[in-house]
Amino acid sequence: MSTAAAVHTADDIAQLAEKLRAGGLVAFPTETVYGLGADATSSDAVLGIYAMKGRPRFNPLIVHVADIAMAETVAEFSPLARRLATFWPGPLTLVLPLRPTAGISDIVTAGLSTVGLRVPRHPLATALIRATGRPLAAPSANPSGRLSPTTAAQVVAGFAGRVPVLDGGPAEAGLESTILAVTGDDVVQLRAGALARDEIEHLLGRPVPVAAPDSAITAPGMLLSHYAPEARLRIHVEHPEPGEAYLAFGDRAGTLNLSPTGDLAEAARNLFSMLHRLDAEATRIAVAPIPNEGLGEAINDRLTRAAAPR
Ligand code: TXA
Ligand code: MG
Repeated sequence: MSTAAAVHTADDIAQLAEKLRAGGLVAFPTETVYGLGADATSSDAVLGIYAMKGRPRFNPLIVHVADIAMAETVAEFSPLARRLATFWPGPLTLVLPLRPTAGISDIVTAGLSTVGLRVPRHPLATALIRATGRPLAAPSANPSGRLSPTTAAQVVAGFAGRVPVLDGGPAEAGLESTILAVTGDDVVQLRAGALARDEIEHLLGRPVPVAAPDSAITAPGMLLSHYAPEARLRIHVEHPEPGEAYLAFGDRAGTLNLSPTGDLAEAARNLFSMLHRLDAEATRIAVAPIPNEGLGEAINDRLTRAAAPR
């Protein structure tokens, strides 16, 4: 397939849904990052995701559904889970007890009795799920360990045009969803993401603890070196060295600036795409300090992983 032929528009949704029902892969836009989708009820289809990404088998995948009614067919919702689901559609993944009757492939859950579930907030994602009529398993649409894609062009480049991509424009949030594990009336954050923890705490009126990095419940995908650019990356850098491309924030001068006004939502939206751009032109990247509040928690989490030794 030529790389141009890989990009599709809303007009092609019926055709892409047919491809998914036949066990194929389709990359699609969400408000967080682009996902590499497959029919979550077909083990063969889901194995295609792991093969395309070169991803370790033990890492479970998020299941995407069109609405809460569809979500309730896949997982069991406690009253607390229902309250958290008021953030849907949106950048929140809930890890909940799997309904055995849902027919979700155990490759999706990596054999766990829980499932990571979310209702994305992008009209083309919703339309594709509805047209397919199946829950879609989808990790970020990048080769394993590489930067998550926020545009269709990055997906095409990452997989050399081997996956059809539904183009929904640049991702609105630019960071993956926040992941919460909900067990009855208990909740713990497994991954910081595009929904800031303080917003969740505000809704619940109580603190949301963060899972310890080495705890058994932590998402197996929380591998330290992840989200990595090709270039060497240094973080919390106030004064870049000669030869380093500088990713600035706030009123610092840099090669690129995540948000000249110091807006963390804008910085989150720009993070992966600016790292992609600097990665194409530099072998060493330094990133300015980012405040660790609100969305800064997720931004610093991604930067720490991207800078980890590999
Ligand atoms: O924004 C997002 O979440 C994007 C878009 C495409 O929806 N998806 C995404 O998926 O980031 P992925 O596969 O890159 O990350 C899924 C994370 C992994 O860290 C995985 O370990 C965790 O979710 N996860 C999935 N199911 C789980 C489960 N049952 N228990 C614990 N962690 C789970
Ligand atoms: Mg990913």
